Amino acid sequence: MFDTSERMKKLPPYLFAEIDRKKKELIAQGHQVISFGVGDPDLPTPERIVEAMRRAVQDPSVHRYPFGKGRADFRKAIAEYYKKYSDVELDYENEICVLIGSKEGIAHFPFVFVNPGDLTLVPEPGYPVYQIGTILAGGMPHFMPLREENNFLPDLGKIPDSVAEKAKIMYLNYPNNPTAATADIDFLKETISFCKKHNIIILYDAAYHEIYFENKRPVSFLSIPGAKDIGIEIHSLSKTYNMTGWRIGWACGNERLVSALSTLKENIDSGTFEAIQIAGIECLLGPQDDVKKMRNIYQKRRDILVEGLRKIGFNVKIPMATFYLWLAVNSDSLSFAEKLLSEAKIIVTPGIGFGPSGQGYVRFALTIDEEKIKEAIMRMRELFRR
Ligand SMILES: Cc1ncc(COP(=O)(O)O)c(C=O)c1O
Repeated sequence: MFDTSERMKKLPPYLFAEIDRKKKELIAQGHQVISFGVGDPDLPTPERIVEAMRRAVQDPSVHRYPFGKGRADFRKAIAEYYKKYSDVELDYENEICVLIGSKEGIAHFPFVFVNPGDLTLVPEPGYPVYQIGTILAGGMPHFMPLREENNFLPDLGKIPDSVAEKAKIMYLNYPNNPTAATADIDFLKETISFCKKHNIIILYDAAYHEIYFENKRPVSFLSIPGAKDIGIEIHSLSKTYNMTGWRIGWACGNERLVSALSTLKENIDSGTFEAIQIAGIECLLGPQDDVKKMRNIYQKRRDILVEGLRKIGFNVKIPMATFYLWLAVNSDSLSFAEKLLSEAKIIVTPGIGFGPSGQGYVRFALTIDEEKIKEAIMRMRELFRR
């Protein structure tokens, strides 16, 4: 009776539905399911941030519509944070806009710059919102495969000139979900000059920038000369401070891109709850020991999983950032994930769900504790011994 719009019909199918159904069935049957599925931190938000929120929420002045690009003090804190950790200068008045989580900004951005029929350059495997935002805005994604032989970076030489000429936005995400790859300076420089040549905006998704190992901090996109001429970076407090439920992020970089996104948002939302923004100041300017601790926890989990998988016989590449492990399984990724679920009661995400180049891989999220990881390895050892 109520037929959905043509744009809704163009959305890709939800590939994980069958696994989700099976998971619920197994839990209902009383099985102890171990889930490496969702990239949602299991650790709590640090107490100093919860306390800042507790204090902030008591002030009635924050109970009203937030409006605009976000609180000036939070935007100043963001600018200070970029200066301190990435040596990037940001003008807090014009180059930063607060978001209701980075997903919101990523999904809305193409509405600002994509006309029906325009192309965007979308990495695959990748976070699905790049193509979904493009499709909802009437554009068409042109996929850039991320292959292991190219360190999971897009091969710019393979983008036809005719596509580059019509492309409005290139999406990049490093440290990368789902491959856990990081981008090097040379690649970023090359991509910036490619996009400048073809007049393409870069939307750089830095959601996992702070999740890295062995003190190897990823390169900051905005620190590369020329990045701000064509780029907007989308960042988030979700992963760094275990705040996925709070819904807060920001867009920063090129003034024109930031201000156009902010204009769109003024028309469709009324901003991020100010108490959360005040807690956000504590996130960025308070002591960062909890972030360091969290990195160590993920690193330990990573090491346990890597060692366990290697002992079983998998060829594992050690992830240097994000809380994901992208495992080549040398078989159909969906069948592999289904076998793990039905025979070992372990959930992993089939790589094919992130795009065709994810075929042959599965993704483990390190968002469960060490004991569960060890138990999962025991179950897998048993399964693959058969
Ligand atoms: C690559 C990437 N970008 C953005 C997000 C969205 O994060 P949030 O909306 O919580 O800021 C996620 C969440 O999983 C992600 O994996």
